[in-house]
Amino acid sequence: MGGSRGSYYLALKQINKLANSAFGLRKICNSIAKSAAKTVAANGCRILLLDTQKEYLITVGAHGLSDLYLRKGPLDGRKSLPDILEGRVVFIADATKDERVQHPEVAQAQGISSILGVPILNKGEAKGEIRIYTREPCQFSDADKSFLLSVADICAVLLERAELYQLVEKDYKVSKKRIKSAQASQLPTASLRPTSFAHPSEEEFAKWLDFYRMEWLYEPRSFPLQWKGDEVAEMFTPDFYLPELDLYVELTTLKQNLITEKNRKMRQLKELYPEINIRLLNKGDYLQLLAKYGYGPLGEAKVKGVDQVLYSHTQIQRRVRALARRISHDYAGQQLVLVGILKGVVCFMADLMQHLSLPVTLDFMAISYYSGDGQAVKITRDLDSSITGQHVLMVEDIVDTGMTLNYVLRHLSSHNPASLRVCTLLDKRARRLVNIPLDYIGFEIPDEFIVGYGLDYKGEYRNLPFIGILHPELIREGGL
Ligand code: PRP
Repeated sequence: MGGSRGSYYLALKQINKLANSAFGLRKICNSIAKSAAKTVAANGCRILLLDTQKEYLITVGAHGLSDLYLRKGPLDGRKSLPDILEGRVVFIADATKDERVQHPEVAQAQGISSILGVPILNKGEAKGEIRIYTREPCQFSDADKSFLLSVADICAVLLERAELYQLVEKDYKVSKKRIKSAQASQLPTASLRPTSFAHPSEEEFAKWLDFYRMEWLYEPRSFPLQWKGDEVAEMFTPDFYLPELDLYVELTTLKQNLITEKNRKMRQLKELYPEINIRLLNKGDYLQLLAKYGYGPLGEAKVKGVDQVLYSHTQIQRRVRALARRISHDYAGQQLVLVGILKGVVCFMADLMQHLSLPVTLDFMAISYYSGDGQAVKITRDLDSSITGQHVLMVEDIVDTGMTLNYVLRHLSSHNPASLRVCTLLDKRARRLVNIPLDYIGFEIPDEFIVGYGLDYKGEYRNLPFIGILHPELIREGGL
């Protein structure tokens, strides 16, 4: 594995700068973990510190590891790779088989193969460690090891900053309580399904995730937010965790005035646990999501008209021409396969292809819609021709939650194209759940219900030559 002399030097320079910066300590430690992992070409890294009782190793910085992995419980300093705390560098070639690993089943579930651990020594005494993780089995060079030992030295100096120990102590108290609770040693497994949900909307959301074959866990973790002395005084338990996206989702289908309270908890959660990814879906978002499929209370709404033009025909055409120019430039000298997902993309695809100054071929796919009947998504129309070894540009009219794109891109990648990029006319970022990089974007749009230029509401409005916003009053008729 590993970096070159130059990359070690640059990484150490950057890490030194971080250690000396005015950023919060969590941010510094997370950034150091990122830089260290990148430099030795690993997939993940975490920085662990021994609590003041020298019992447990607490994570103070991490990169590239899912929350599920990080919360497998505090590591017992005496049991988890104890040689590292003895001051030695430890290498585990296969974490799923090595008996020195405390939770091999979790390592396996997370796809972790090799682990390299180095001690953080302060005045000769182990204060913590840095662990590096890879998905593929690998060996680390001596240069990698000595680079990581230098990073550990910088961490040791950083430790002198007292605030870091305050962080560690806080996590330690929480961890101790978790250890006491029976649940602490048991990780919920992806197959664990609740027998009942707190609210019907949660059940509906779970069905929607099932449709896209997105794995989920229901209320798998409670985050302490406030303490009175040693006792946790306030907790926050997000409704869902999506391991594939390492994302928590909280649904607010309660009264609007309670959202302020939820927002406060969300803010606190982000301050205390900055490494956690969480999205709040409010009632409007959620009902609009279902209405898109003509489903849920809004699915019954009678829409009488478009309230406002968001982009006129002329604005759309100008933007489409600009996108086509960029794409033609980027793919100059190459042949391109344009793949569209029916039906919303028809107007955009037709206009975009006419302005491309490249040899292009065209293909379409269609996938089934969510209807709440327990069926999972399936491809109802597949590609006509093979895309193996071809440069593919997936063209979309809109990316909303990103679930469609996530599903389709996975399918396209499995055919091994030479390259695969995405071009979308509209990017509705406010409701994104799956963060997929978009290579070409026409317009970033607000969180409104939009129709026209291919986009529909219950099958209508696709033929409008402009993009318009449906009147909010009309949307509300369905019972928002
Ligand atoms: C639209 C659009 C995208 C998808 C994006 O299709 O064409 O494919 O929604 O939404 P997402 O990011 O939340 O998955 P829709 O399902 O409305 O079908 P249509 O193209 O036939 O209108």
